[in-house]
Amino acid sequence: MILMIIITGASDGLGYQLAKLYKDAGKIVVNVSRRECPVADYNFLHDLAVGKDVEAAAQEILALDEPLEILINNAGVYSEQPIRSITKDEVKRLMATNVESNILLTSFLIDRIKQDGTDILSVISTAGRKGNPSHAVYAASKWAQRGYTEALQAELKDTSSRVIAFYPGGMKTKLFEKELNYDPTDDGLYWMDPRDIAIFAKQILDLPKNIEVSDVVINRKKT
Ligand SMILES: NC(=O)c1ccc[n+]([C@@H]2O[C@H](COP(=O)([O-])OP(=O)(O)OC[C@H]3O[C@@H](n4cnc5c(N)ncnc54)[C@H](OP(=O)(O)O)[C@@H]3O)[C@@H](O)[C@H]2O)c1
Repeated sequence: MILMIIITGASDGLGYQLAKLYKDAGKIVVNVSRRECPVADYNFLHDLAVGKDVEAAAQEILALDEPLEILINNAGVYSEQPIRSITKDEVKRLMATNVESNILLTSFLIDRIKQDGTDILSVISTAGRKGNPSHAVYAASKWAQRGYTEALQAELKDTSSRVIAFYPGGMKTKLFEKELNYDPTDDGLYWMDPRDIAIFAKQILDLPKNIEVSDVVINRKKT
């Protein structure tokens, strides 16, 4: 029996590194994002900021007749601006992509999740634990994602699904460059390699099913 791993945002960054690891491990890898992931077995191309796209992605996943081992809610966008410059559109965009997409996708899949004992990895951020200046909207979206993840942990407590609230700090990906017109990770300040973080996430998920690592905080460290 081949098990299926769903990764939102596997076209780039951390999601792509996870996709490569799971593909190498012989799993069926499903990417849900707007662009393709070259190593995925299935690419369901959708804009997760749009509710009907999330529903369409869930229907495509459900139509695959394979056991759903892991759902990795990873897709996300960054945003940065002084408080006075925050707009309603920016709040909506961040909340739709970083929060609503993962609430809705999990919700559409919940019967299968319970039936298959699917584990859920929620890629949040250290910004979901500590507010910092200049990215209030991003932080608010990550705190909301944290709230949802903790509720899901409680909801699935008596099932065989484990729910992991995963809080990485700064990784060297294009997340920031896509929003700012420069790459802040070029400053030489010990940004973590997303491949290392993917390996660690997989190690946690590979633990025996009776071990649920409920919260993981990964900080970058001067070497
Ligand atoms: N990089 C960091 O320092 C850092 C730190 C902590 C947490 N995180 C979190 O880690 C996760 C992955 O980030 P990353 O650093 O790997 O960023 P990334 O390289 O920019 O990857 C983001 C992924 O999300 C997908 N995505 C974004 N908007 C989407 C949309 N509307 N619909 C569908 N997919 C969408 C992108 O795919 P498409 O563009 O193909 O749609 C891409 O595959 C995010 O949740 C981020 O908040 C990152």
